[in-house]
Amino acid sequence: MPHSLPRPKAGDIVTIGEERIRVIHDEEQIAARVLELAREVAASEPRDLLVVPVLKGSFIFAADLLRAFYRVGLLTEVDFMILASYGAGTTSSGQVRVLRDIETEVRDRDVLVVEDILETGRTLAAARDLLRARGARRAMTAVLLDKKVPRAANVEADFAGFTCPDVFVVGYGMDKAHAYRELPFIGEILPAE
Ligand code: IMP
Ligand code: MG
Repeated sequence: MPHSLPRPKAGDIVTIGEERIRVIHDEEQIAARVLELAREVAASEPRDLLVVPVLKGSFIFAADLLRAFYRVGLLTEVDFMILASYGAGTTSSGQVRVLRDIETEVRDRDVLVVEDILETGRTLAAARDLLRARGARRAMTAVLLDKKVPRAANVEADFAGFTCPDVFVVGYGMDKAHAYRELPFIGEILPAE
């Protein structure tokens, strides 16, 4: 076993590789919240909804959210966008680049941009504004984590899973230099002892 706690609960501290990670939201908490979020999105009565996960960080959240949409009876289509605002480190470069665009027409449809974390807002605003400029009827945003920090872009999430303290988090799709995306929980990287 690479570590001693395969299904840790919120509050547990897991050592993975070199890093100590404190679980902020465990698997059950995430699953329950994602189902609620799906209900919230469905209650907004989207029409002809195209879900646009912003890769890579949102891939696990989006996969769970899409299946929750099915459970609450919301039909969707999906297409993916890859945006990059971070290099391999943990600070934002301030630049958002489209590395992969959607192939789907968005004119006159409702779209839901799905992001892992809302921080400065640059990434979410870039995706939303691009889809708006292409004539989306409604460009809505769903984020797993809302970090309550000053925004650099004029954007808030229409749907947010959890508010998040201003710490560096990994897991459930989110990475530190491409590691830890596979963790089934959301955790905070603790400083070295
Ligand atoms: P923003 O463009 O400043 O809002 O940054 C959002 C993006 O930064 C997210 O999509 C994440 O990829 C990344 N990010 C921000 N905070 C964290 C973190 O704590 N862990 C991992 N990635 C983060
Ligand atoms: Mg990201």
